[in-house]
Amino acid sequence: MRSLLFVPADSPKKFAKGMTSGADALIIDLEDSIAPNNKEHARQTALGFLKEAAAEPARPYLVVRVNGLTTGLTDADLDAIAPGRPDAIMLPKAEGGASVVHADAKLAVREAHNGFPDGHIKIIAIATETAASLFVAGTYRGSSARLSALTWGAEDLSADLGAETNRDAEGRYLDPYRLARTLCIAGAAAAGVPAIDTVYIDFRDDVGFRSNCDTARRDGFTARMAIHPAQIPIINAVFTPSAEAVAQAKIIVDAFAANPGAGTLAIEGVMADQPHLLRAKRVLERAAIKKS
Ligand code: COA
Ligand code: MG
Repeated sequence: MRSLLFVPADSPKKFAKGMTSGADALIIDLEDSIAPNNKEHARQTALGFLKEAAAEPARPYLVVRVNGLTTGLTDADLDAIAPGRPDAIMLPKAEGGASVVHADAKLAVREAHNGFPDGHIKIIAIATETAASLFVAGTYRGSSARLSALTWGAEDLSADLGAETNRDAEGRYLDPYRLARTLCIAGAAAAGVPAIDTVYIDFRDDVGFRSNCDTARRDGFTARMAIHPAQIPIINAVFTPSAEAVAQAKIIVDAFAANPGAGTLAIEGVMADQPHLLRAKRVLERAAIKKS
């Protein structure tokens, strides 16, 4: 999976547009883009989207962002949307593996109730939205087989930290948010799941967005969330391994396959050892499975 497009759950027009946007996944949002007095209506519309999409032969992966575990809204969200059999929920304001264990139990109940196989609905956790979350970003490993990715956010974190802003005058993230980004990458790698980069809110800035996506891929993110359909082609292009990267990875994998006992090889005048082999294998995996 490379691109995940946010669609507010109260907007049928955006849902229709999202379905044809080329996004690998849609995140139907019940949380921050929905006003408190509109949650119940949005739950019903979200269920309608899920049912409508289920009838489509080729559909994106469907994720529902529910409200966080401390809001008192999560159970009603899950009760409403579970019959639509989403592929995953996105869990905002997660605080480590304990939150995932908690959400896992809630999902197991809904799956049993609706007659779905146990473990069908996966969990993508937003791992950095509260101050406390930063201290437990390394606890996701082994929390649940449902955990399929981690992502991060800077907006809610700045509110929880009591900060005035999360960026400097040039638009770069300040230290606490750079830390959150790094903890997301490390927490995801430690848990053995992909790291998904956060949204880029300036959706008219294609050039800035592309370069920001390049940096994300360089640092270990393998996918990115979008707020606008115009961001999808950019994400898909940046997070699909290039023909050049695939060719280079093949050279490394083939060289080790041809020298089974070797731990280190010289390939085109450059040393390659186990981390290089692992990286090359990951590139080939990503090239083979763009949508899983
Ligand atoms: N998903 C699907 N379609 C979208 C979309 C989205 N996230 N954002 C915009 N579109 C559609 C618009 O409806 C419009 O459709 P139209 O051409 O049929 O009228 C088209 O794309 C162009 O949109 P544009 O006019 O450029 O933007 P906008 O002013 O309508 O919307 C936002 C701007 C930010 C309000 C909108 O992109 C949005 O709601 N994004 C998601 C917000 C969200 O979910 N936030 C929570 C996570 S951070
Ligand atoms: Mg938020």
